[in-house]
Formats: sequence, structure tokens, C-alpha cells
Amino acid sequence: MTFDLNDLKPAEKQYYLQHIIAPRPICFASTIDKEGNVNLSPFSFFNLFSSNPPVVIFSPARRIRDNTTKHTLQNILEVPEVVINIVTYDMVQQTSLTSCEFPKGENEFIKAGFTPIPATLVKPPMVKESKAKLECKVLEVKPLGTEGGAGNLIICEILRLHMDDSLLDESKKMDQRKINHVARLGGDWYCQVNEQNLFQVEKPNTQLGIGIDVLPENIRSSNILSGNDLGRLANVQEMPVIDPAFDDDHLRQIIQYYNLNPDEMEKELHLYGKKLLIGGKVSEAWQVLLALG
Ligand SMILES: Cc1cc2nc3c(=O)[nH]c(=O)nc-3n(C[C@H](O)[C@H](O)[C@H](O)COP(=O)(O)O)c2cc1C
Repeated sequence: MTFDLNDLKPAEKQYYLQHIIAPRPICFASTIDKEGNVNLSPFSFFNLFSSNPPVVIFSPARRIRDNTTKHTLQNILEVPEVVINIVTYDMVQQTSLTSCEFPKGENEFIKAGFTPIPATLVKPPMVKESKAKLECKVLEVKPLGTEGGAGNLIICEILRLHMDDSLLDESKKMDQRKINHVARLGGDWYCQVNEQNLFQVEKPNTQLGIGIDVLPENIRSSNILSGNDLGRLANVQEMPVIDPAFDDDHLRQIIQYYNLNPDEMEKELHLYGKKLLIGGKVSEAWQVLLALG
């Protein structure tokens, strides 16, 4: 199915795009108006765009229903400061509650049971319960349109970052497994980032992988090896060669058993290579796959 965005109604555009462009991190924005009324609201049109200068952007959109603007945007136009509180799984239901359309001036810290604590450089308070808080000054507000659904980019420079010690390991390095982020997807869907669904993809920074285009034909056209398997194999810096010292019982068995049946042997070698790749044993997988000659 192919859509031309111009043929969709505003609510349909939002519906499809929010499901597809996901998961999105959540900016839990604390702002203040010039009378000192505090607002707290979540925004998942949010990301990091620069680390030096440190710049994040989030986007309170005009409501599709009636083309009104959000209190967060109104506050920022009066006081161009914001604290962005990072949302973790233990806060997600209370965070969602703050997105109710409470009347202007109603303090969502109170409505949702969060604890305000003073920020150090900006006026809006921080959410005590959040494990990471960014004190920001607003560099620019860029409206993207005038119709319902139009975003307003709030371009923020991060001045100070507060992190809970529980996010760090013993050597004061970030431990990604400890943060427990939540992210927003389409409709009512969220996802939780935890140790069970985190994984790592090794990427050498300074050296080039050989590329999938130069892999041997039988590997490249394998029905058993997936795109991820080929990606792992092609990330080595130079084409591996057979290592005569490589000694592996299972490889020897495959070669002996399927000696008279090269097609079956290829299948078994690919299956074994795949298993090694999934276990992170890339050089061993290469030796197995090269055994076919
Ligand atoms: C997790 C989550 C993410 C949201 N992301 C956005 C967003 O990126 N942009 C937006 O305009 N509204 C977003 N909303 C809706 C606003 O939070 C909601 O309209 C809120 O009432 C705005 O509050 P305010 O008028 O007090 O600023 C989101 C709601 C939730 C629960």
C-alpha cells in the first residue's frame, strides 16, 4: 500500500506516521508562564540533534481538533526555559495522566502526584521522580505551519544535566541496562527498554567493514543466512582466509558425514555458521563457512 500524504486527512496522517516513526523517546517538559504558573506535559516528538552545542528539539503541535496551541508552547513563548525530565517505566502512568487537558494554570505536578524540586539555572521546576533531568534554555521556536497538527519546534540548548547515581556503574560510566526508558509508538502503544530487549551491535569506528557485495557467492545467496548474519560477516576489516589451525569437532563431523553430498554439506555449514554468528563468534563462523572452499 502506498499513501500520498496530501490525500490523507490530518488525523490519518498523524495515525499512520505515529505508528511508523516509532519508538520515540519522551520529553517530559516542565515550563512556567510569566505569572509563575507551572505546567508539566509529555511530548514524544523529541530527540537529540547535536551534542556540541548540546541541542534537543521537541514539538508541541497545534491540536487537530480545534487548531488551538498547547500550554507548554504558550509558556515557552513567555518564559523561554524548560526542564526536560526523562521518563522511565515506573513513571509512565502518572506521565500519561499529565497529558489530560487540564485548564491553563492547573499544575500537573499536583494532578499527577509528582514532586517538584527547584532547578539550578532555570525557573521551571524539575521532576524529582525522574532519573535524568535536562535544564535547558530555549534557543528558538519554529512553527511548522498554521493548521491543526502543525508542530512547533522548541529548539533547546541543554545547560545542565542531572543524573541519578543509580544510572552509573562503579567507574561512573552510564549503564544502559539500568535506565529503563519507555518510548511512545502509535495509538496507545508504548515500549519499555529493559535488559531483556536490549542488544548490542558492534561497529568499528575507525576501520571499514569489507561489505556484503564482496562476500563469496554461496554465502551471499544463502537461504539460511539472514541479512543480519551477512551484516555480521561483512563487518570484518579484511576477507578472512582458511586458518589451518582451526580445529572444531562439529565442523569435522559435517565434512566427514556429508562428504558425498555437497548441497547438504553447504546447508549444514550455513546452519552451523549461523549458530556461531548468533553467539557472537564471527571468526569461528567464517572458518566454518570457508570450509566449503
Ligand atoms: C507520551 C505522550 C507523548 C505525547 N507527545 C506529544 C507530542 O509530541 N506533541 C504534542 O503536541 N502532544 C503530545 N502529547 C499530548 C500532550 O501531552 C497533551 O496535548 C497535553 O495535554 C499538552 O499539555 P499542555 O497543553 O499543558 O502543554 C503526548 C502525550 C503523551 C501521553
